[in-house]
Amino acid sequence: MAGVGRFGALHARVWRELGAEVVGLCDVDARRLADVAGGLGVAVVSGDLPSLLARVEPDVVVVVSDEATHADLTVTALEAGCHVFVEKPLALSGAEAWRVSAAAATAGREVVAGQISRFAAPYVRMRQTLSGGGIGRLCALRLRRDFSRQWFLSFGDRVHPVWESCIHDIDLAVSFTGRPVQRVSAVAARAAEDEAPSVVSALLEFQGGVIATVESAWLVPDSAPRTLAGALALDGSIVAEAEVLGADGILRQRLVADDLVEWTSTGAVVPDLSLWPEEDGTVGGALRQEVAYAIDVFLGRRPADRVPLQEVCWGVEAAEAVVASLAAGAPVEVPDRGPDTGRGR
Ligand SMILES: NC(=O)c1ccc[n+]([C@@H]2O[C@H](COP(=O)([O-])OP(=O)(O)OC[C@H]3O[C@@H](n4cnc5c(N)ncnc54)[C@H](O)[C@@H]3O)[C@@H](O)[C@H]2O)c1
Repeated sequence: MAGVGRFGALHARVWRELGAEVVGLCDVDARRLADVAGGLGVAVVSGDLPSLLARVEPDVVVVVSDEATHADLTVTALEAGCHVFVEKPLALSGAEAWRVSAAAATAGREVVAGQISRFAAPYVRMRQTLSGGGIGRLCALRLRRDFSRQWFLSFGDRVHPVWESCIHDIDLAVSFTGRPVQRVSAVAARAAEDEAPSVVSALLEFQGGVIATVESAWLVPDSAPRTLAGALALDGSIVAEAEVLGADGILRQRLVADDLVEWTSTGAVVPDLSLWPEEDGTVGGALRQEVAYAIDVFLGRRPADRVPLQEVCWGVEAAEAVVASLAAGAPVEVPDRGPDTGRGR
């Protein structure tokens, strides 16, 4: 595993619960690495991935490090002959994403990107209903995801916030349309003391005419009911809503539903039951589904069709265009960089 911070530690637990052996860990933070390795009982540790791969020969490298390191670490692991699970975002530019895709093809290894929303039960059902013709021809998507204000102040702006929050919904939109984005217009606002924008609204125009609005605000106050409190060592709130508008019907959902509310001595909790809930001592939900899927892909037991790398690259291209549109203050055309994206664009 490369990166054993908050989510890396949870990943290690889930991979183990699904039968994987964790043979080595690396992290640039020596104290964090020692703590997590001690807790997991993993003896082989290193401060960087190349020196770890000189000591162990894993089948799979799980990349859960800071966003800016994902593409390079993934290519390093591919060149060492490993399959790779890499957390979102796959990369911080379309060019880097396609570089990873090319490296995977050259190495003959699989890359599964951690676009967890593709495995969350409500979105899975929405996609099935759509593809089954339940609401007719897809016309538009409205996707919104708000996060805790305190997260923004602690890590939300370590890369442009689009890569932290909007990338989930941009990838979801790509998964619903199965097409690349052609054009993006975005606007942003920031709370007074912030350097990076804490509120983003983007309009994506897909090839084929579908439009999607993607909105994100990192302004949920601590007084709001907590939705994350449990398996991931991160307390706070995610408030996400999605609408899929078809010619013959509309699908609507909330990521964290309020059908279970807990009023406790430390405040109100509306616990997430879809992403990584603890069920009978193990981690369930979308994270378990996602890791189980990756293991099946890596073992050649199923095709890599739930998170196609090409679609993930389209999502990264679109996210890059959102950042570019914010910088330009104008709409941006998404450049056609990928090896296959020219088809039908
Ligand atoms: N899919 C989801 O819902 C979800 C949820 C949380 C986090 N994430 C993603 O997981 C990743 C990690 O997030 P986090 O919250 O655990 O962050 P974190 O800051 O807690 O952990 C990141 C760790 O990576 C380490 N690191 C940085 N550069 C490294 C390198 N070159 N090699 C090895 N280790 C390195 C850091 O020292 C740190 O320990 C991010 O990409 C984040 O977007 C995804």
